[in-house]
Amino acid sequence: MMRWEELETPCYLIHRAELEQGIALLKSSLAENWDHYIAGYSFKTNALPWVLMRMKEAGFYAEVVSEDEYDLARYLGFSNVIYNGPVKGKRSFLEAFAGGAIVNLDAKRELDWLEESGLTKGKAGLRVNFDLESLCPGETSAKEAGGRFGFSYETGELKEAIERLAHMGIKLSGLHLHASSRTRSIAIYRALAQMACRLKQEYDLQLDYVDIGGGYFGGLENRPKFPDYMKAIRKELERAYTPKETALIVEPGTSLITPPIEYMSAVVDCKDTYTGRFVVTDGSRSDIDPLHGKESYFHQILYYAGDQAAERKRMKKQVICGYTCMENDRLFVLEDQPELREGDRILYQKVGGYTMCLTPLFIRYFPAVYVEEAGEYTRVRERWTVQEAVQKNHY
Ligand SMILES: Cc1ncc(COP(=O)(O)O)c(C=O)c1O
Repeated sequence: MMRWEELETPCYLIHRAELEQGIALLKSSLAENWDHYIAGYSFKTNALPWVLMRMKEAGFYAEVVSEDEYDLARYLGFSNVIYNGPVKGKRSFLEAFAGGAIVNLDAKRELDWLEESGLTKGKAGLRVNFDLESLCPGETSAKEAGGRFGFSYETGELKEAIERLAHMGIKLSGLHLHASSRTRSIAIYRALAQMACRLKQEYDLQLDYVDIGGGYFGGLENRPKFPDYMKAIRKELERAYTPKETALIVEPGTSLITPPIEYMSAVVDCKDTYTGRFVVTDGSRSDIDPLHGKESYFHQILYYAGDQAAERKRMKKQVICGYTCMENDRLFVLEDQPELREGDRILYQKVGGYTMCLTPLFIRYFPAVYVEEAGEYTRVRERWTVQEAVQKNHY
């Protein structure tokens, strides 16, 4: 059995039990509130094949937003797909529609493709663009600049799209209302569900599904959890919809996959300069915060086995740094703590969402990934080496 001291660093660690807990909580929250539900897993959030296969086994639909992601879902054997996004490929779009995937249109060219193809049987939904910011001031990602996805309710493009589908003899199966927000608040989901009700009434829609999207918190104390969101969504939706006629679709990503994943780095060197102690590690900010937007990281120090931290001298300040050659690859400052030494490990918690999929091939290649289950570690991705780095190149 592999112990943490033996793991190759840097690496990601997926804690299986925590992942399963999140999946179970999502499903029970949905079942308790809207028995006819579909859960999609957002590929873009973390598309590690092991993760995707686990989501498939757990009954998730693949929620994909590009031809590459669509092809990946098919390659891994997902039979249920939700195809979203503003830039779908024509080949995969038509294949998905004809093959019975849930296809949420986001662009006029997708309506053109349908028209040209003559296809009429399939599940077509429309991504709705509306002024959510005025309902939830300061909460949306784009704030007053307004969201850019979907067909606009206010300008009439949504109504036109509904009419075009009807003209082509294609049933409008659903509405897609995903909104990425800054706050991930319950109020956002209330507003989305209210909009779904309003559109049903205004355009007299008979829908097979309302897709409320992703964007939830997960696994954080003092933050809403799946039961809070689903209860609030149900309360609004049931004013205009019944579970018997209309399924509720959700597309979580980060709420499921951020909590169970950690990142481990090892101390490789300590140096003293005129400003103090720098602790160099073999991990990088790029691996846990690729957009360099976070102000702090959940972390824990693992002092090397056999060497009691209590016996070490304490240091006023130690600056923990990454392996890249960027000055700003500094992760945090340890104050009044035992001196770190080569071989000590640092664990960063809750780093599963928008990390592995956004890390660059900068200076070092992709790190290994392990799954931890009942204290045992299994490697589910080898670290990338030169072989992978040069593949598909001609030189
Ligand atoms: C259409 C769509 N669905 C689902 C998600 C997943 O969001 P999150 O990872 O915040 O749950 C996103 C993320 O941007 C998205 O664009």
